[in-house]
Amino acid sequence: MIQILDKKFEIFIPRQEIDEKIKELGNAINSKFHNQEVVFLSVLNGSFMFSSDLMKTINLDCEISFVKMKSYRGTSSTGNVDELIGLGKNLEGKQVVILEDIIDSGLTIDKIIKLIEDQNPANILSCTLLFKPDAFQGLNKPDLVGFNIPNAFVVGYGLDYDEKGRNLDAIYQIKE
Ligand code: IMP
Repeated sequence: MIQILDKKFEIFIPRQEIDEKIKELGNAINSKFHNQEVVFLSVLNGSFMFSSDLMKTINLDCEISFVKMKSYRGTSSTGNVDELIGLGKNLEGKQVVILEDIIDSGLTIDKIIKLIEDQNPANILSCTLLFKPDAFQGLNKPDLVGFNIPNAFVVGYGLDYDEKGRNLDAIYQIKE
C-alpha cells in the first residue's frame, strides 16, 4: 500500500501486465495500419508514459505530436472555448491515432475529437490505456482499450492525484 497526500492506494495493475497489454495494443495498431502513414497524438499530461512505451512497439511510418486540452472562457457569445495546444500539424487526409491514459466521463475525448475533425483527417482512432465504462457518458467510445476498469480513482503510470503519483511505474487504485 502507498500513501499520496491524504489518500491510500493499493496496487491494481502491476507493471508486467501493463507491458503485456501495451504489446497487444501495439500489435493491433501495427496490423490495422499496415503500410499506411500514421500521426499519433499523445494527450498530455497523463499519457506521457503510456505513449512512450507504446511507441516503442510501433513499426509503422509515423509521427508523434504531444497535445494538451485547454478550456477557457471566451466572449459571452462564444461561451467556453476549447483549444488543443500543440496541434501545429496539418492533419488533412491523415490517419490519426489519439493516445489517452484514461477515458472516464468521455467529455475530454469528445472535445479533442471535435477539434481534430475540424482539420479533416482521413480517419481518427482513439486508443486509451484505461476505460471506465460505468462512468462514460460521451459520444465517442474508445476504439482500442487496454483495460476496462471499475469507476474508482486510480494513479500511477502517468496518472496523477493532485499532480502527485505520475512517476509510479504501475497503476494503483484508491483504498476507500
Ligand atoms: P474524462 O472524464 O473522460 O473527460 O476525463 C478527464 C480527465 O480526468 C482524464 O484525462 C484524466 O486526466 C482525469 N481522470 C479521470 N479519471 C481519473 C482517475 O481515476 N485518475 C486520475 N485521473 C483521472
